[in-house]
Amino acid sequence: MSSFIIQGGRPLNGEAVCQGSKNSSLPILAACILSDREIVLENIPALTDVDATLEILSCLGCRTRREGTVLTVDPSGVSAVEIPDDLMREMRSSVIFLGALLARTGRAALSAPGGCEIGLRPIDLHLDAMRRLGAAVSDEGGKIECTAPNGLKGADITLSFPSVGATENVMIAASLAEGRTQIRNAAREPEISDLADFLNAMGAKVSGAGESTVVVEGVKKLHGAHHTVIPDRIAGATLLAAGAITGGRVCVKGLIPAHLAPVLDIFERTGCGIEIGSDTVLLKAPKALNSVRTVRTMPYPGFPTDIQPPVTAMLCRAQGTSVVIETIFESRFKFVGGLTRFGANIRTDGRMAVVEGVKKLSGANVVTPDLRGGAALVLAALSAEGESRIEDVRHIDRGYADFARTLSRLSADIKRI
Ligand code: EPZ
Repeated sequence: MSSFIIQGGRPLNGEAVCQGSKNSSLPILAACILSDREIVLENIPALTDVDATLEILSCLGCRTRREGTVLTVDPSGVSAVEIPDDLMREMRSSVIFLGALLARTGRAALSAPGGCEIGLRPIDLHLDAMRRLGAAVSDEGGKIECTAPNGLKGADITLSFPSVGATENVMIAASLAEGRTQIRNAAREPEISDLADFLNAMGAKVSGAGESTVVVEGVKKLHGAHHTVIPDRIAGATLLAAGAITGGRVCVKGLIPAHLAPVLDIFERTGCGIEIGSDTVLLKAPKALNSVRTVRTMPYPGFPTDIQPPVTAMLCRAQGTSVVIETIFESRFKFVGGLTRFGANIRTDGRMAVVEGVKKLSGANVVTPDLRGGAALVLAALSAEGESRIEDVRHIDRGYADFARTLSRLSADIKRI
């Protein structure tokens, strides 16, 4: 099991290039099986979640070739319709293969994804939507079987919650359905628009992505495509938060600043100077961070839940009291126990965390609870005086490409052992 050893208490300074988006790459990789022609994807980040997705693609009969961040997928050989159980357990977001498998083969079988460290992760919205598109769905004993022997039919679907994954599954399945599909209360995250751009590059007819109503006109066939995935707004914002919590000066390049707007607003409210370029954001931390009265996670374009843990860590060093409300996932404060080991003064009550800023944090040994919680603990260690050890960093490898090397390029003293 790998760990990070961090000598903290010094400001981060320098420039980093933002990785490609994990949460764009995964649905786009799944959508490749809608076509039987070669697809080339660029800016795919080196993450273990991407590795797991590639493994699923090859289990389904696709051939994939990777050269750095360029990925070539040949989906002509898709034959299997079952996602292997061990891979479903390894990555719950594999449910995103449901719509693609159904649309391509008329069948899909997967084990219920099960909960994870941050919540139950139900998929009722996905399954209801597949039924609306004409699929027969059985969900017994943890096994999900979907069939649509006569193909899928377009439908009007209203999501009770703007679920990112459910919106993506419907867009993917509806691309090859007969007729028109309308998704109301769709998720509006940038990754939804990126998926729509990819589907349209393959010849699909998706419109309205990024708004609350998405319309898909089904087509008979999709061809190959060449697509570059958008930058990872969460990974970029995490590096900026590392600059903020250490009192440093960090410039992240290769970003789409507009995607970070709700996070940049919080950084400014803590007193950070923010300079926005066409594809860069420069953050200059103040001598001391100000607290932020309320940070509430919301669906996009609200404050993203995925940056909540790193920002909560940053607020541990802000003067005054901040209240963080996590409205998206029911247990996304598991990392708070680790923060208190660094000397943070923070308590949680259900979906709320109350953070009393402290003057300094001290090095500690902690275990990574989940992907974004792990990033939060790394940020606390970077700010803490002395040595810290962060164990079980495989969670971090799921979503941050070469995190230790990226941080050391920003002059952090961090080693992976
Ligand atoms: C995507 O997960 C992201 N993952 C998550 O990022 C992100 O936190 C989340 O969207 C919200 O932005 C990927 O894109 C691979 P949801 P997803 O469906 O699609 C409930 C990270 O750290 N819900 O929008 O699973 C659900 O329980 C990960 O990179 C249902 O009730 O998120 C949650 O409370 C973590 N029924 C809320 O909706 C359903 O059928 C948001 O879930 C589906 C979801």
